[in-house]
Amino acid sequence: MKETLQRIKENALTAIRNTDTELEQIRIQYLGKKGELTSVLRGMGVLSPEERPIIGQLANEVRAEIEAALSEKAAMVNQKALEEKLKAEKIDVTLPTTVSRMGHLHPLTQVQRSIEDIFIGMGFSIAEGPEVEYDYYNFQALNIPENHPARDTQDTFYITDNILLRSQTSPVQVRTMEKQKPPIRVISPGRVYRSDAVDATHSPLFHQIEGLVVDKGITMSDFKGMMETFAQQFFGSDTKLRFRPHHFPFTEPSAEIDVSCFVCGGKGCRVCKNEGWIEILGAGMVHPFVLSNCGIDPNVYSGFAFGMGIERIAMKQYGIDDMRLLYENDVRFLEQF
Ligand code: PHE
Repeated sequence: MKETLQRIKENALTAIRNTDTELEQIRIQYLGKKGELTSVLRGMGVLSPEERPIIGQLANEVRAEIEAALSEKAAMVNQKALEEKLKAEKIDVTLPTTVSRMGHLHPLTQVQRSIEDIFIGMGFSIAEGPEVEYDYYNFQALNIPENHPARDTQDTFYITDNILLRSQTSPVQVRTMEKQKPPIRVISPGRVYRSDAVDATHSPLFHQIEGLVVDKGITMSDFKGMMETFAQQFFGSDTKLRFRPHHFPFTEPSAEIDVSCFVCGGKGCRVCKNEGWIEILGAGMVHPFVLSNCGIDPNVYSGFAFGMGIERIAMKQYGIDDMRLLYENDVRFLEQF
């Protein structure tokens, strides 16, 4: 029996040495319930009581050796597989990559953000208002009653009789003054809508930035000083302003404001159409009616308001001669900014 055990051990160890893949079959063949070692143990009944523990111990040793050989081999096989996998999946980090295309902000967003930055630097905060607006905020509270001729130039998209797509950012003035008592210092950028036919300088959707300052003792000269600071930071330190009288129902007095052409400095060129000046905004002192509509006493407080078109400024700055380009999202165009 000793020889049988010895033989089983040698056969098993040889078989293990010679295979990478059949370890489980070998385990079953030698150590399984019906395996060779088990059947030897079953035959131990014929042994004398003195021989039994000796053979029993030997059989256990054989089993332990085979098991050890099996697990050692299994570990080796796994290690080899891992090494092969690592070798096969090796990446060369020095190889050139495919560079993914990075986008950037739309020119209108860039202009909007740089305007915002300057006003934030002067202590303004940003107010927001809805694009779908009540007639009251877009017109009535701004001193534009029903049938007022000013509505004609701004007739917009009505949703119901008294709800419309806002035609200007000025309704945010009213919403701000209703919510907040002076001192007020806000700007409000956003989309506005007018039922204009599309051409090189018109679009039914465009962008404005509204500004509003209300406090005790605010005068037109505060506005001029602030506007000059803005224009010189935005267009260049040599920029001059020109105020032309104008009319807006919600400001009194009102003005349209031009900046000296930032391309030719005022001599006259293609960008300013030889005028030397470029119109950039409408503005004025907040009309006393508007202040009272919002519950602010016009005998105590005064303020100024202004509104500028972002497209106009972007087009002048970048020398874009057709507004439609700003909305077509043609990457060949947008890439240039
Ligand atoms: N809302 C006016 C426009 O769209 C601009 C403006 C704003 C004028 C504020 C005066 C004060 O033309």
